[in-house]
Parts: sequence; structure tokens; C-alpha cells
Amino acid sequence: MCGIVGYVGKNCCADILVDALSKLEYRGYDSAGIAVFTENGIQITKSKGRLADLSAKMNAEGKPQGTVGIGHTRWATHGEPSDTNSHPHRGGANVTIVHNGIIENYKQLKEFLIAQGRSFVSETDTEVMAQLLDFYYDGNPVQTIARAMQEVSGSFALGILFTDFPGTIYAVRRESPLIVGVGEAESFIASDVPAILKYTAQYYLLEHDEIAVLTEQGVSFCDMQANTIRKELLTADWDMDAAEKQGYEHFMLKEIHEQPESIKRTVMPRVENGLPDLHECGITPETLRQFRNIYIVACGTAMHAGMVGKYVIEKLARVPVIVDIASEFRYREPLIGEGDLIIIISQSGETADSLAAMRLAKKLGAKTLAVVNAKGSSVAREADMLIYTHAGPEIAVASTKAYMVQISVMYLFAFELALAKGQIDEAECRRLTALLMETPQYITDILAHKETVEAMAKPLLDAESLLYIGRGLDYALSMEGSLKLKEISYIHSEAYAAGELKHGTISLIYKGMPVIAVDTQKKLHEKTVSNIKEVKARGAVTFLVCGESYQPDSDIADYCFRLPEIDDLLMPMLAVVPLQLIAYYAAVQRGNDVDKPRNLAKSVTVE
Ligand code: M6R
Repeated sequence: MCGIVGYVGKNCCADILVDALSKLEYRGYDSAGIAVFTENGIQITKSKGRLADLSAKMNAEGKPQGTVGIGHTRWATHGEPSDTNSHPHRGGANVTIVHNGIIENYKQLKEFLIAQGRSFVSETDTEVMAQLLDFYYDGNPVQTIARAMQEVSGSFALGILFTDFPGTIYAVRRESPLIVGVGEAESFIASDVPAILKYTAQYYLLEHDEIAVLTEQGVSFCDMQANTIRKELLTADWDMDAAEKQGYEHFMLKEIHEQPESIKRTVMPRVENGLPDLHECGITPETLRQFRNIYIVACGTAMHAGMVGKYVIEKLARVPVIVDIASEFRYREPLIGEGDLIIIISQSGETADSLAAMRLAKKLGAKTLAVVNAKGSSVAREADMLIYTHAGPEIAVASTKAYMVQISVMYLFAFELALAKGQIDEAECRRLTALLMETPQYITDILAHKETVEAMAKPLLDAESLLYIGRGLDYALSMEGSLKLKEISYIHSEAYAAGELKHGTISLIYKGMPVIAVDTQKKLHEKTVSNIKEVKARGAVTFLVCGESYQPDSDIADYCFRLPEIDDLLMPMLAVVPLQLIAYYAAVQRGNDVDKPRNLAKSVTVE
């Protein structure tokens, strides 16, 4: 997703903007640019490609000299990645902007502006916004922004320079996130905290339809009627180390290794006397007893965490759970209302589909519970109840530690719900909670054997397509393993319920096709083994992830990774680790950009 930065201070703005943008690279982008107030007016440098291409262009054309400016990494939506479509965009003589999100009614606005005699150089909705601001410009920037905002719909954030105000950056947001950082005689705008952490840990969260005004003297905020707004100054609770690779080759590998600590940070504070205690999140046994049905709504990896949640909640608490893809949920007129609980799981808390699903659920009278990693994000702020996952910043596009803490929360929630509903007794709840707290040590042990997984991934170098199979919780895991592999290795793969293969998909198996089987559920073991034999008999090369008590014969597994065993119910916490590592090593050996896979964005704030 696009990244916005801005700097007002005493230092060389171009260097700071490029450095800050580099901290937003994880969001995914295909072009970058900056605009700086110089002695000769606003100088724009922009380029298709990576930040290195932008820097090369600046070196060739001359670095803009100035101390106030805005910058952008673009993830193309309206128009192909190109120098022309890159941001910043000018809107006539008065306005230069960077933009994240979508101006939904840009076509109508463009027609209107063309009718007023304006012409456009790019295909972007951003240039339409820039021209609209210029069209309404009356010498008063705040008034101009407020006027233009009346005309636009969509979710977006903007960083704006007005030519007549060379020492000032203006910013406004509607839905899309934007923060305003404050340091010593300098201030910043950014789409996310990592961009400014090197300079300051203190920031304000710009809210919906608020305008920020940044000068060297400080920052101020107002609403669309120009009324001053006082805001709470926040302090980022993680430091630069959390946003750096710290010796790991990739953020993804670092984040895989951070999983034990992330679980501890997420689980330990929610356990009292050996039992889960979520009352600080607004959840008590009384509230839990009210709910008839649970819906878990999310996207991608977060949705897969919901799949684990479904199995665990239904098994322990005997409450029906429907897991929905957020983009489907909102358009299928869901049968929800009072007495239903909607759990929204999201790392970023800004995923447009998940946010919209949550708003719909609220409107229909259901209670909403957010399981979110990003502090102060939109999903976190709007939910009725909130459980923060404490994964820390997740930089790699492929989600790993966020998934781990999402499923940890699913367990805690299921344990407390099952106890509240009288489906398990205190002793069983204590036993399960204690096991959950032991998982970090098991994961550390698994990570000590990551070379075994690396060797397992070698045969995938030339694979064109493969299958993940499993039953029950192992099927939920297969879905996550398959997504992880797809997104970073670009190898086509599908996850299948192992028992479903014979109903059609088994016809895809050819000699040498890799099949990754997850087999951690003892009750289902014999059945899963039969399904593995079916694919093996048809020539598949099999990779087995199973518990250590199982010693597979060669007619079952060509490659095997054996996991320490805990209660079957908790095996996903362990089994996902080799699946993450298989995807990671497959992507590394194929020479892919692991942390920034093609076409993907970390936070998907468009529908
Ligand atoms: O920020 P969210 O958790 O709401 O994001 C949801 C998905 O976009 C995300 O999990 C995506 O599937 C990941 N890239 C998967 O690794």
C-alpha cells in the first residue's frame, strides 16, 4: 500500500524523506517520489521502481535543497507504475500532494474539472484531488482543504504543500491512517510509526476528517470548521531495534524467530491464577454467556487464524462459529444481529474489507470484538471489545508472528468461553492455559532445527505447483502454509482437506508433484495416512509434518519434519513454524524479494 512521509525542520529534507520512506518499503510499492520547498519553488523528483532508482535520479538531477517536503511510495491502483503516475502530483500552481487510498468519485470530479478547462497529465485519482484543491484554493489552506473534502468520497490520507506557504505541511485523512510525529524543532507526517522512529517516538494519531498543520514551531490540529482540536500525544512502545533486521537476512526470518516472545507478551498478561482473564479487554464470563453464535471475519492470514479459532471454540465451548472472508461477508447480507458476536482479526487494523465488515456488524446490532496488533488503528478504535496482540511491528509482508499471536488469542478466548459456558471445568481450563504458556519453549526448540526445514525446501526449487493437505486443525494450517508459500515463493499451491482430494483434485497429482501433508491430530492420523498413501501411489513426492511419536515409512514420506508433541488442540502453534520456514526457504532459494513480494502490500486499505 502507498506510504506517505513529510518533514518540517532544519535538516536536509530530501535525505530524511528517503530514509523515512525506506522504513515504509515493507508496505509494498512500485514507484517513489519527493517534493521539497527549495529557493526556486517546489522541486519534485519521482521515479518508477525502487527508492534506489529515486536516489539515482536525485543524484543525476541534483538533490533538492530544502528543509520542508513530502514523500511517497506508490502502490499502483489508478494507472500503471510509471514516472508520470508516481507521486507527488501538482494541481496547478498552488498545490502539490502525496496521497494514500482511493478517491472513489474521481471520475465525476475529473469530468467536472475538465469542464472547467483543466487538463491532466496522469491517470491517477491523486492528480484529480490535487487539481480539486487548486480549484478551490482561496489563499487559506485549511479552508481550501475543508471545501475540497466536501466533494470527495473514499478513504484516503493526504500530505499537502501549498506553494504560498513554504514552511508548512498540511495533512488530512479520511479513514486511511496517518500519524504526525513531533521531535525537537521538527515534525513529521507518516503512514506508519517505523518511518519516524529514528527521529522521534512521539506522535499524534490523526483522526477521520481532521487537518494537521506542521511548521518548525510545532503542530496544530483542527476540524473541517477550523476549530482547534487538542489531541493526546502518544509514545511508540517499540524502538528502532524492533524495526530493524538485527542481523537476520530478512524481516520474515527475524519475525519467525520473535514468535516465542510475541506469545509471551500476548498471553502472560491475560492469565490470572492459571486461568485466562480478558476482563481488561472488556470480556467477562457474563458477557461471554450472552452470545449464541460467533462469526470470525478477516482476510488472508488473519482469516486462517480464525479457522483455527473456529475449531478450538467449537470443540471446547460448543458454540457455533462461522468464519467469513471479510470481502464476502459484507456483500452477502449476513444473518446477524443481537446476541451474535463478530470477531474481527487484523494485524494492521486498517484492512478496508475487515473494517467495513465490522461496521456492518455493528449496524446490524451484533457485538464486535477486535483482535488487532496495530495500536490505535481504526478497527481497534471502533470495536466494542478489544484484545491487542503484542507481536510488535510486523514488517515483512508475509505475516508470521502476527498469525501466531492471533491464534494464541483464539485459544485464550476459547478457554475462557468454554469455562464461562460450563463446557470445561476449572482444572481443564488451567491445564490448557498452562500448555499454551509452554508453547514458546517448544517453538524455540523447533527453530533450533530450522536447517532440517531448509533442506526439506530444496526440492521445491523447480516446483510449479503443489498441494497442502490435512484434516481438521491440520487443514486450517494447510491453508496458512499454502498462502505463505504462494505469496513469497510464487509457486502455485492449494490447500485441501485431505479427505476431499479423492472427490476431484487427486486427478492433478502427477509423478513428482510435491504434496505437503500436515498430520498432527492423533484422532485423525489413520485417515490422513490413507490420504497420503493415495497421493504417494500416484507419484507425489511427500513432505510430512507430524508429531515426534510417529515414525513414518518411506511409502508415506519422502521428507519429514517431526514436532515435539503437546495436546493435539495446541499443535497448530508448533506446526505452523515449519510451514512458515518451508515458504521462507523456498522463496530465498528462488531468489525472491522475501520481505516485499511482488504485487502485494502489507496493509490493504482499498477494497
Ligand atoms: O492487516 P490484516 O491482518 O487485516 O491483513 C490481512 C491480510 O491482508 C494479510 O493477512 C495477508 O494475507 C498477509 N500478507 C499474509 O501473509
